[in-house]
Amino acid sequence: MWQEIKKRGRLGKRQVILLDETDSTNSYAANLGRQGVENGTVVMAESQKNGRGRLGRQWHSPSGQGLYFSMVWHSKLAPENLAKTTITAGLALCRAIEKLTTLSPQIKWPNDLLSNNKKIGGILTENCGRHKNHYLLIIGIGLNVNTEKDEFPTDLRKTASSLYLSSGQKYDRAKILGTILHELDKQLMTLEQGEFSKILADWRKRDATLDKTTTWLTPNGKVITGNSLGVDNQGLLHIREDGGNIHEVLSGDLSLEF
Ligand code: BTN
Repeated sequence: MWQEIKKRGRLGKRQVILLDETDSTNSYAANLGRQGVENGTVVMAESQKNGRGRLGRQWHSPSGQGLYFSMVWHSKLAPENLAKTTITAGLALCRAIEKLTTLSPQIKWPNDLLSNNKKIGGILTENCGRHKNHYLLIIGIGLNVNTEKDEFPTDLRKTASSLYLSSGQKYDRAKILGTILHELDKQLMTLEQGEFSKILADWRKRDATLDKTTTWLTPNGKVITGNSLGVDNQGLLHIREDGGNIHEVLSGDLSLEF
């Protein structure tokens, strides 16, 4: 399948651009999106020099071991729905992994994919504004597939993992990519049909924070610790402090006690 992508630049009907190396597939896909590339186009790289994560973090992208890709999505939904889109992509990612492996991944709101309490993947959804008759969204996914422990920088080794490290098996990256894209199409269609509640019900079964002591580092640098009440119908997380105060988490960083 990898060869097919390389040779034809397509996976089924979808345009897939496979690069040896780029700064960030999200940036590359955003440029293509602005130039009017077809909906659903995927940009994938064997490695990234400047893979980007949430909150200005870097996404470590060692060559040939993981999947680093971004999909151009012509969304009918207004940009306020960005959080819902990230949740939708997280569900698609979990479902694809469940189909192909024995793992039961979970999501740490909003965008961290965990397996055995370690991070194996992440999602970066970006809004690139209005373009013709749609909103241009870029859904970027990084998944550590066959990554070995010593390929992670030392400071990440305790918290990062891969499908391989978590299950003891190596996987065909093209097959995983195909399954993720299939799930992504399906779930995004459900989102556009206004059925976010269905997505949420499925997502909640994979919520890594629910009912756990969760620490929230707010964008202003305040630290709030409490019990996670899970996500509301808009996809925002709620945390109840010991004193009873309930906080609606819009952004910032979460950590969990395992
Ligand atoms: C996160 O964990 O904060 C999100 C990580 C998202 C990484 C992916 S890799 C492919 C795509 N290109 C990027 O620059 N980032 C996303």
